[in-house]
Amino acid sequence: MMINIIVENNQGERRTLEIPGDMNLSLMEVLKAYEYNVLATCGGMAMCGTCHVQVLEGIDNLPAHSNAELDMLDTLPDAESTSRLACQLQVNESMQNAVFRLCAEEEMV
Ligand code: FES
Repeated sequence: MMINIIVENNQGERRTLEIPGDMNLSLMEVLKAYEYNVLATCGGMAMCGTCHVQVLEGIDNLPAHSNAELDMLDTLPDAESTSRLACQLQVNESMQNAVFRLCAEEEMV
């Protein structure tokens, strides 16, 4: 099954990514594969916050935060109730047609 997710960069440009749902990838890994500027310095351990995204649509379908994710989000000054760490989200049906805005990308330009 293909999963369609929509990614908005810091210029407000949206792109639809079509990802096979059976590859066991995190959203962070997918964003890196598509060459978005996601540093992911901790390698997906919920310890760096550089994979921070805002969920603009579809947040109710996503699995709940782990404690590690919540603790990390608590340290980010720009975190909101719609914030998630892309490394903690598996790409699967829960993400179908969700819209994500990249948060950390602009700090790197
Ligand atoms: S990659 Fe470090 S918190 Fe997600």
